[in-house]
Formats: sequence, C-alpha cells, structure tokens
Amino acid sequence: MPKISHFECSLCKETIPAEAPATICPACTGSLYVRYDLSPLAGTDPRSVVGKDSTTPNGRFWKGMWRYRAVLPEVEPVTLGEGWTPILPSQRNPNVLLKEEGANPTGTFKARGLALAVTMAKYYGLHTLAVPSAGNAGGALAAYAAAAHIPCHIFMPQDVPLANQVECTAYGAHVTLVDGLISDCAKAVAEHKQAEGWFDVSTLKEPFRVEGKKTMGYELVEQNDWRYPDAVFYPTGGGVGLIGMWKAFEEMEKMGWVSGRRPKMIAVQAAGCAPVARAFDEGKDVSTMWQDASTFASGLRVPKPYGDRIILDIVRQSGGRVVALPDAQLFESLKDWAANEGILLSPEGAAATAAYDVLIADGFLKPSDKVVLFNTGSGNKYTDVFAESFGLAKHAQAPEEHQLLAPESVFE
Ligand SMILES: Cc1ncc(COP(=O)(O)O)c(C=O)c1O
Ligand SMILES: [Zn+2]
Repeated sequence: MPKISHFECSLCKETIPAEAPATICPACTGSLYVRYDLSPLAGTDPRSVVGKDSTTPNGRFWKGMWRYRAVLPEVEPVTLGEGWTPILPSQRNPNVLLKEEGANPTGTFKARGLALAVTMAKYYGLHTLAVPSAGNAGGALAAYAAAAHIPCHIFMPQDVPLANQVECTAYGAHVTLVDGLISDCAKAVAEHKQAEGWFDVSTLKEPFRVEGKKTMGYELVEQNDWRYPDAVFYPTGGGVGLIGMWKAFEEMEKMGWVSGRRPKMIAVQAAGCAPVARAFDEGKDVSTMWQDASTFASGLRVPKPYGDRIILDIVRQSGGRVVALPDAQLFESLKDWAANEGILLSPEGAAATAAYDVLIADGFLKPSDKVVLFNTGSGNKYTDVFAESFGLAKHAQAPEEHQLLAPESVFE
C-alpha cells in the first residue's frame, strides 16, 4: 500500500497535507483528490500486483475491493467484504456487461466509498460522523460506523425507501428524517456540525468516498481483462462513482496498467431530477438547482450535485452523453431485466439499462460495442417502492392471479 502524499484540489490544484483529516479546498471550496507517489508501480504487471493482494496468504479471506490495496491508503481497513462484485454478461447480448453492485454489503455501491471514509475516520481518530443522504449512503455509513464503533448521524428525506430507515435504525445510527430533499438534509448537517463536533462525510466534501468508489474503475478494467470497454453507463446523483472511475483510469494509465481509448462515460439521470442533463444540453459548465425534484429512483434525487463541474467535464472529455429518462421508462426496463435476465435492478440501475436501449436506438452506440451498465444497488432494497409501482400492498387484497389456495386445497 502506498503512503498518501497529499490531497489535491480538483479545481485550483492547491495541495494540502494529508496528516490531518480534510474536507474541501480551503482556497476555493473544490473537492479534494487523494494523491500518492505511484512511481514505484510504474511499469508493473497489474496481474501480479493485484493477484498477489486478492486473498490472504492461505487463500481463505475475501479481499473485495482491498485487492487494490496497492493503490489505496496504507491503513488497516474497516471492511465488511465490499467490492469485487460480479460483472454479468446479458443473456441477450454478451457485449452488455452488468456490474452488479447490489452484491455489496448494505446492498449498494455506497459500501465502497463509506468503507474507505470510515476506515480513514478511524485512522484519524474522528469521534462522530454525519451525512446527508438520499438513503443508501446513510445505510452504508451506519453499517461501517457500527463496525468501527464510531457514532454517526444520518439526515434523510422522510420519504426514503423503508429499507434505508430500517437499516440505519438497526445499525444504531442517530436518524433524522427531513421534510425535504437531500439538499435540505445537507443544510441541516451544515447547521449542526460545528456546534456538535461532527465530521461531515457528505458526497465530495471529504476525499475518501471518491477514493473508495474508484475501485469500480479498477474492477471493471480488470474484469474486462485489463482493457477498457467502449462505454460505461452510470446512474448519476452526486456523481461520486463517475468521478472515482475517471481517477482510476488516470492512475492506471500512469502505471501502464491499461492503455487505449477511455470509455465514453454516460451519466444517466431521471427526467424528474436532471440538473446535469440540462446543463449538458445547454453547454454549461455547472448545473443550476432543479426545482420540485421527483423520481422513484431516490438515489438520483439530487437537485444540485456538489461535483457538477467535474461530472460535466469528464462526460465531455470522454465523448459521452448525459441522458435523462422518465420513471415510466425506467420501470419498463426494470421489468424487462427482471423477467428476461432474472435480475431485480434498483430503479437507479434501471436508468442505466433504459439509457443503453435509448443510445442503441438512436445510433450513438452499436450492439457490437462493449458496454458496462452499473446496477448500483439491489432491487431488494426497494420492495416498498416497487410494491406501489406494481399495485401491490402488503395487507391489501392480492390480485386474482396471486390468490393463495386455502391450506386444505394444497394438501388435498
Ligand atoms: C442506488 C443508487 N444509485 C445511484 C446513486 C447515485 O450515486 P452518485 O452520488 O455516486 O451519483 C445513489 C445515490 O444515493 C444510489 O443510492
Ligand atoms: Zn481549490
């Protein structure tokens, strides 16, 4: 594992020492990147470096994303087995690879970023953490904070999926439900954190969530035999994973672990909350606050991402697109993947699969292009949301085709 050499501002390039925990750039409020001296790894063979780190010496323990510890901070991880998730070829087109992030602890990719954020919080001796969350980041923080025995405070919209409330409560987090969106939750955290002594692990306001999510970039390249795919579809709320993957590509190229054309990065949003798509279409460098944000893809309900400038820059550099689709189209794709592939996507993952169909239909991509679609979470975290979409309710009359047989008729 390398020692962190410093933090670097994503905007003004200011360098900040890494001996103490950092939030955002003191000079310009930009998000910070973690930088290492990767020169000892230049020219190495990733198969041997990563292969060596993929299990413990007796081959017994699952290293998950820590198989990339050669490019992660040199500290003792707080781990629940996150990362190294399956990449599944679609049965209908083997060039379409689904990255199944629902296989992570807490059922979403948020585990990667929060595993690293909590690992570093423990390393720095931080005593209380706080986060505004659309739901799944809260669940992940609650789990890792419990594992690290660090108290945490989670602020979520009051209408988050029930699973998010249940998991945060079970892990022993302090939960506040806010009548509003994640932006209102962020305000609440900002108002309280100084007086309460909380460390804020908001998306892109501390450097290690991006660092954890960068492992998705390493993984998709390794799982594609150390080659880039043609395009990556990423359901984008705050954009942490997209930013993290781009950082991974840059690092891998510096070490000579991958070469060739980087994938087109396709950021996918819901039409009911599409600030990045609007800015992209209007040729703007930053987004403006989306009013009355509404979508059943709760993770995409981010009315103004903090890292909008970085997301837009990456999508444009990559020759990608930002696509925004209505919930009805997401739900159709969700049903399609469930019925035809046996995969219950999250609504956010269904944004990626639906967007793929759109970009094939409009000719931006060809079926022969190799693409990775991120299912960022398990659909099983959204049963209450889907029950509503399917017109099912726990205690209501079941539809006729689901009528239960009376026990005596089963045993007749
Ligand atoms: C399942 C799921 N997908 C996608 C996102 C968006 O993630 P990001 O903030 O990295 O864009 C979220 C965020 O809450 C989420 O929970
Ligand atoms: Zn700066």
